[in-house]
Amino acid sequence: MKTKHLIDIKDFSKKEIDNLIKVANDIIENREKYSHKCDGKILATLFFEPSTRTRLSFESAMLRLGGKVLGFSESSSSSTAKGETLGDTIRVVGGYADIIAMRHPKEGAPTVAIKNSIVPIINAGDGGHNHPTQTLTDLFTINREKKRLDNLTIGLCGDLKFGRTVHSLITAMMRYKNIKFVLISPKELKLPDYLKELLDNQKIEYIETNNIEEYMKDIDILYMTRVQKERFFNEEDYLRLKDYYILTKEKLKTAKKDLTILHPLPRVTEIAKEVDNDKRAKYFEQAYNGVYIRMALILKLLEEK
Ligand code: NCD
Repeated sequence: MKTKHLIDIKDFSKKEIDNLIKVANDIIENREKYSHKCDGKILATLFFEPSTRTRLSFESAMLRLGGKVLGFSESSSSSTAKGETLGDTIRVVGGYADIIAMRHPKEGAPTVAIKNSIVPIINAGDGGHNHPTQTLTDLFTINREKKRLDNLTIGLCGDLKFGRTVHSLITAMMRYKNIKFVLISPKELKLPDYLKELLDNQKIEYIETNNIEEYMKDIDILYMTRVQKERFFNEEDYLRLKDYYILTKEKLKTAKKDLTILHPLPRVTEIAKEVDNDKRAKYFEQAYNGVYIRMALILKLLEEK
């Protein structure tokens, strides 16, 4: 059988995503039942780019399943620094581990990796392109909060150009019924055209604005993002745009009572601390949820293997 990977969120059908959500919910209810499911298995985390949550939540997920982890958290401590190709690294690590989670600054790197891999590869972020496991975390959190993934107006705010979590989330949500997007960004950080074309082709409603308050009253999910400093070509532009949005209590004045505020984290200045104790702020729950959905994902990919 062909090895299953997760490179793009579309690699998983809606049904498969539903199942992951079911398993993740069951893990939360019955942790003990899962604590030896991966005995004897090894996860490698190959992180060529910085991370806190994604890498540690993958490691925590595997440890909570009874498995073990190995890997590196910066490319300078791997043989990449000596000039080794990604393909060779993956080929070798495939002999050391049963499953690989990798993050890479180059868009498309995971696609190169799967060509050289005998074990499942999980894309834990490739440049400004995709971040499918953050999207699974987001879908899981939305489902826990709203009990549905259909009939939602989703506001995405901040760096829609370089924010890979935004790109994957839009790609995923596009498949559900009656979804509308409010795309809130400065003109320099608008959503890439290829995604807008997809929305147009599928006749999905979206509005672009640079004003965070304009459609606040209509939004069910407000997805805040950080301006992606590391993807800017010059510092001046970054400095000009980095504090463009700061979500405050005042800006939430017209928001729905049951709004859900998400953020993939790390937060810099785009959400004021005062918002943290608003009961609609769910970004820390979202980070916790990431472990359980990654546990479900590891189980699924190892099963398929
Ligand atoms: C995101 C990422 O790496 O793209 N972080 C994460 O994985 N939770 C978002 C970001 O870095 O801004």
